[in-house]
Amino acid sequence: MKLLVINGPNLNMLGIREPEIYGKNTYKSLISKIKNHAKAKGVKVKCLQSNYEGEIVTEIQKALNKFDGIVINPGAFTHTSVAILDALKAVNIPAVEVHISDVDSREEFRKTSYVRYYCEKTISGKGFDGYLEAIDYLNSQYGSEK
Ligand code: DQA
Repeated sequence: MKLLVINGPNLNMLGIREPEIYGKNTYKSLISKIKNHAKAKGVKVKCLQSNYEGEIVTEIQKALNKFDGIVINPGAFTHTSVAILDALKAVNIPAVEVHISDVDSREEFRKTSYVRYYCEKTISGKGFDGYLEAIDYLNSQYGSEK
C-alpha cells in the first residue's frame, strides 16, 4: 500500500522548537524513522511538510487515486482549518491524525481538532512513535495482508 505522510507548519523546526514539548530530534530524523519503519512493513510512503494551508489542501487533492491512506499532523492548522478537513472529506482517503504532544492535556484551544471530524483515529502524545502506529493501523486496515 501507498501512504502519504503530511506534516504541517513548524514541524520542519523539530529539534529546535520547544524541545521540552516536541523533543530534541529533528524533522529529518522523523522522516528516516518513518521511512525505515514503512520499508520494514512493506509500505510505500511519501513524506511532505508545508507551512502553507493551501499547499496542504492541494497535496491532499492530488492524493486522489494515488494513495491508499493519509497520515496527517496538521500542526497548528489542526485547531483552525476547515479547509484541510474538507479536502480530506473530498478525496475520501482513509486518514489518521497524529500529534507528537498530548494536545488534549495542553492549552484549551488545542483540544479542538477539525480533522478529527474525518480521521478514523487520533494518536496523540506518543512522540515520533505515533506516526509509526498510524502507519501500522492503516496497513492493518487497508494493506494487502487484509
Ligand atoms: C502538534 C500540536 C499542535 O497543537 C501544534 O500547533 C503543533 C504540533 C503536535 O504534533 O503535537 O504544531 O500538532
